[in-house]
Amino acid sequence: MAHSAAVTKAVVPVAGLGTRFLPATKVTPKVMLPVVDKPAIQYVVEEAVQAGLRDVVLVTGDGQRSVTEHFGRAHHLEARLAARGNERALAEVRAPAELAAVSCVRQDAPRGLGHAVLCAAGHVGAEPFAVLLGDDLIDPGERLLARMIEARRRYGGSIVALMEVPPDQVSAYGCASFKPTDDPDVVAVTDLVEKPDPSEAPSNWIVIGRYVCDPAIFPVLRATPAGRGGEIQLTDALRALATADRGPGRDGGGVHGVLFRGRRYDTGNKQDFLRTTVEFACARPDLAPDFVPWLREFLSALPDGQDGPDAIGRQLP
Ligand code: UTP
Repeated sequence: MAHSAAVTKAVVPVAGLGTRFLPATKVTPKVMLPVVDKPAIQYVVEEAVQAGLRDVVLVTGDGQRSVTEHFGRAHHLEARLAARGNERALAEVRAPAELAAVSCVRQDAPRGLGHAVLCAAGHVGAEPFAVLLGDDLIDPGERLLARMIEARRRYGGSIVALMEVPPDQVSAYGCASFKPTDDPDVVAVTDLVEKPDPSEAPSNWIVIGRYVCDPAIFPVLRATPAGRGGEIQLTDALRALATADRGPGRDGGGVHGVLFRGRRYDTGNKQDFLRTTVEFACARPDLAPDFVPWLREFLSALPDGQDGPDAIGRQLP
């Protein structure tokens, strides 16, 4: 049965504290940190637009006005650039404002991803909607979100994106158990476990930062008690929907998983942020011709077998 209600809205929660990037995130929201020269959040909104979602609601917290402002007009800056005749810079400044209809709702305190999504309930209404985590970048060539929207049309309910990781990494994520469907890229999720012990993990497929949620998730979120760290977890509500025959969320239409085998960049942790920056720079036609040879030379100058901080052989600020 095809599920006709179209997915048109994207919810992008950015209200976390970004503690792993302090002091950079003291006054600058984590999603505003640049990957090369564009804030991470702009890649994410571009991905939503590419999947046909032009109604984007950011869930922001204290001191995060700059995230919303990034998607508005900057009249003073535009006037200065226009006066200088700098058309290229002017286009860069205007592009985010022309991407989509971006609005924002507030999360009064960072009470968890599930709570952040709940803050967008009034804006979303009774329609299915996408959730994109502002610090998770997905290779646009994979069309992951478009595939998830298609899975929602076919199977209804809610859709998560699942990615296979080495078993020792499952304990950092939500992890799924599932059974196959007739589509080799889509599975029926039977359970979700948040941050399992590797020995108890039901699989090594983890939930990554893209979701398509049935609006039935809102009453479930309202009824979801705070879990780990006093936060309301989105995974707990999805679990209730996935195990609906055994608990609340009976009318939610279940949960399916789209298997993702492409590149994902978690800019929310330092190691991946650095890898992402280097990889993106190496893929940029304007930077790669200088940057790649420098990188090769830099690496070849490092002494063999020294992977610690001493490898660079000098102190940096
Ligand atoms: P993270 O846990 O990765 O982000 O949440 P964080 O809390 O900002 O980072 P650390 O752990 O302190 O370094 C995943 C996403 O959910 C959002 C975050 O902004 C991030 O984009 N989030 C999380 C909220 O919007 N509200 C919350 O209460 C929690």
